[in-house]
Amino acid sequence: MRMVDLIEKKRDGGMLTSAEIRFIIQGYVEGQIPDYQMSAWAMAVFFRGMETAEIAELTLAMAESGEQLDLSGLDGRFVDKHSTGGVGDKTTLLLSPMVAACGVPIAKMSGRGLGHTGGTIDKLSSIPGFKVELEREEFLRQVKDVGIAVISQSGNIVPADKKLYALRDVTGTVPSIPLIASSVMSKKIAAGAQGIVLDVKFGSGAFMATLEDARTLAQTMVGIGKTLGRDTIAVLSAMDQPLGKAIGNSLEVLEVLEALQGKGPQDLVELCLELGAWMLVAGRKVQNTQEGRQRLQETLENGQALAKFREFVKAQGGDLNALEQKSLPVAPLRSSYLAPSAGYIRSIDARKVGRLAMILGAGRVTQESEIDLGAGVYLNKKQGDWVEAGEPVLELYTSSEGKKAEGLALAQEAVLLGHEKPGFIPLIEEVIS
Ligand code: URA
Repeated sequence: MRMVDLIEKKRDGGMLTSAEIRFIIQGYVEGQIPDYQMSAWAMAVFFRGMETAEIAELTLAMAESGEQLDLSGLDGRFVDKHSTGGVGDKTTLLLSPMVAACGVPIAKMSGRGLGHTGGTIDKLSSIPGFKVELEREEFLRQVKDVGIAVISQSGNIVPADKKLYALRDVTGTVPSIPLIASSVMSKKIAAGAQGIVLDVKFGSGAFMATLEDARTLAQTMVGIGKTLGRDTIAVLSAMDQPLGKAIGNSLEVLEVLEALQGKGPQDLVELCLELGAWMLVAGRKVQNTQEGRQRLQETLENGQALAKFREFVKAQGGDLNALEQKSLPVAPLRSSYLAPSAGYIRSIDARKVGRLAMILGAGRVTQESEIDLGAGVYLNKKQGDWVEAGEPVLELYTSSEGKKAEGLALAQEAVLLGHEKPGFIPLIEEVIS
């Protein structure tokens, strides 16, 4: 087989066979196929697309390019959740103890944040002492004993994706549905998931700006999951404004603690109930999502989810006293963005708030950037709320005077006021299964 023939085949709209896809992925990972040929192939895929069978094959070839987790020794079905990324999205932190308290084990590998979206691993790192890396045996033992372990994604999992994603990033081939879908699903398959619940976001702060694109991505991923024999469900959720009220690593952990005590923001709790209910269905713990939601709600009311979270943090070396006393790092310079006039909050643009939090120090501009775990933004108001002139809408946290001034200018761009109350925008648009 020659790579040039396969590039031409895809360029001309042909369908690649399983052997051809494996030749491409294996050859690329082993260094026999150079970046320039892989770039041409990725661009051909970008323009010509792929059939579901091809994408499933690509997913499998990528999943098998490195180490794969074998979770068959765990009690119960292992269900993983994936979010396509958003602003203020701390669902993994809240959802995991709720679901684990209902008996579905969570063995999760998560990422760090990049650009305007946050990452679970950075959020957990804001808890003093919390270890985001565990040896394989330690990780599995903790899942067995505690029911939850969350670690940083190991470099040996799906090396094909690592290499291909870096190439796509510099060749204009990131926004290709077959390439995104195979990238996401290969990591879930390699992590040993038997059930997969996908939170596919759409809106200004999401990877997919429109509902149509998000739906196509969701349908493609559900199709791959089904082809590969995994229970796969996708929930389409809005990401036009940040999720919850806190954006920034330690601020989000503090918000999760509030939520675990039954005082969480309504949108965050609602999304966790929906995603969690599907996880319980996929984990065969409940018959339907109604029953699942009820079980999950109980874990918030009876303290089981909070107890599970504490157990998990302690098992990974986190300082429970710091957590209890809410003494996580919070950036020292605080300023408020005040409403210039009275009115309704028409919108709080998620992408702009994500960028604002990043400028304040909460996010990475490049993969190597250092982040300020205590920096971020707190929303006193959400879309549809009334605000008086001079009332604080956003609280900004940073460690740098220069960033403080820049942040206030950006805050002004993120918030839009109006005289009319905006219409209700549903958080959850639809479920694809
Ligand atoms: N997230 C991923 O994991 N992969 C992509 O290609 C895009 C978003």
